[in-house]
Amino acid sequence: MSNISTMFSKAQIEKLEEIILIESKKPGCLIPLLEKVQALLGYIPVSVQNIISEKTGIASNKIYGVVSFYSFFTMNPRARHRIQVCYGTACYVKGGKEIGEKIEKDYGIKAGESTQDGRFTYENTRCFGTCGLAPVVVIDGKVYGKVSVDNIDEILSQYE
Ligand code: FES
Repeated sequence: MSNISTMFSKAQIEKLEEIILIESKKPGCLIPLLEKVQALLGYIPVSVQNIISEKTGIASNKIYGVVSFYSFFTMNPRARHRIQVCYGTACYVKGGKEIGEKIEKDYGIKAGESTQDGRFTYENTRCFGTCGLAPVVVIDGKVYGKVSVDNIDEILSQYE
């Protein structure tokens, strides 16, 4: 675990080992295991994926495939604030796509990336189940409905 010792605390690494040990004994363990690892570390870099692979015997390319497929997993550290733009059908057609494109353009980032200053991580997500409020943007877990390209700047300005 030497290569992750500079990225995470000793306590985090010990907890990581414990999670792998406990979760790997359960059938169909990979996704719940990854959820717990992400909750612990905030993200799942390739170096951590390799450790999970070594300890569980699950192929590293399978782990990489799962982490990159599901939008709730990330390989990069998250910034101070997490912007989630809903790309579910209702939101997408009501302007979610334009909101996402504006954020990408204004902040020079793509979905899954963070701004250089560590202020925002931006993600596209699937339906939040609040389609009546479409288009929906969630920031640090707070739901904003009826968002538009005209009011997104004002909303984001509240998050420094
Ligand atoms: S499609 Fe966006 S909340 Fe359902």
